[in-house]
Amino acid sequence: MSTLVLDQVSKHFGGVVAADKVSMQIPPGRITGLIGPNGAGKSTIVNLITGMMSLTAGTIRLGDRDLTTTSPHEISRAGLARTFQNIRLFKEAPAIDNVMGGFHRHEDSSLLASILALPSARAETRRIRARAAELLERFNMTRYASFPAGGLAYGHQRRVEFMRALASQPNVLLLDEPVAGMNDVEANEMGVIFKELAAEGMAVLLIEHNMRFVTRLCEHVYVLDGGRLISEGEPKKVIADPAVIAAYLGA
Ligand SMILES: Nc1ncnc2c1ncn2[C@@H]1O[C@H](COP(=O)(O)OP(=O)(O)OP(=O)(O)O)[C@@H](O)[C@H]1O
Ligand SMILES: [Mg+2]
Repeated sequence: MSTLVLDQVSKHFGGVVAADKVSMQIPPGRITGLIGPNGAGKSTIVNLITGMMSLTAGTIRLGDRDLTTTSPHEISRAGLARTFQNIRLFKEAPAIDNVMGGFHRHEDSSLLASILALPSARAETRRIRARAAELLERFNMTRYASFPAGGLAYGHQRRVEFMRALASQPNVLLLDEPVAGMNDVEANEMGVIFKELAAEGMAVLLIEHNMRFVTRLCEHVYVLDGGRLISEGEPKKVIADPAVIAAYLGA
């Protein structure tokens, strides 16, 4: 298990500096927090890590492996998975099919072949379906397996999104506001799962606005504002940092 390291990472969109020389470490075995006001650059960091956006400057490494210019597909094969702030599910497809979509990193025949259930893919599809069913069971979602994902309650859609990311058995899991829109009970259930995953050795990055939630789950938190890191450290110290308080009051 390796540490994900961002070194002096920058991203410019024309005149907008969405990330400005950001250096971060996301080690295995713990949940690292990433907070900051709206527009601070949090989602941009995840887009840069996963290769969805190219860097303007800086490097990203996972252990010895340089991921700076690696394709999203190769980054996923390297063991990174994410969830999206704006849930991205195939809304018409059953919840279980959406979870199945997350398994493809480990499969030989293409995702498309699996979906079309070509003869070569049928046995594999059955196997993947069984594994997706296990995940649904673990997340108490079995009764929704055949429901169209788009028709599920918001908190349940977030779970499906999360299970899809988990299906690839990532070493590094990047969670972009994974409990947004959930009530406290649901969010706390998810928090327990995030902790279990970290305890199993996963490197977890958690973007979240709820400070109590972050304080409870994270040992180390980074704070972004205007694309720059303005504070980092233990959550209790960070939320008392005058620079952090000023950033949130300004927002
Ligand atoms: N594809 C893009 N093209 C142009 N500007 C972008 C793009 N993506 C992000 N930005 C800009 O980069 C800045 C950072 O956006 P980002 O979405 O990373 O913030 P965030 O911290 O995730 O905010 P939120 O808390 O609202 O999710 C914003 O000014 C945003 O408008
Ligand atoms: Mg965001």
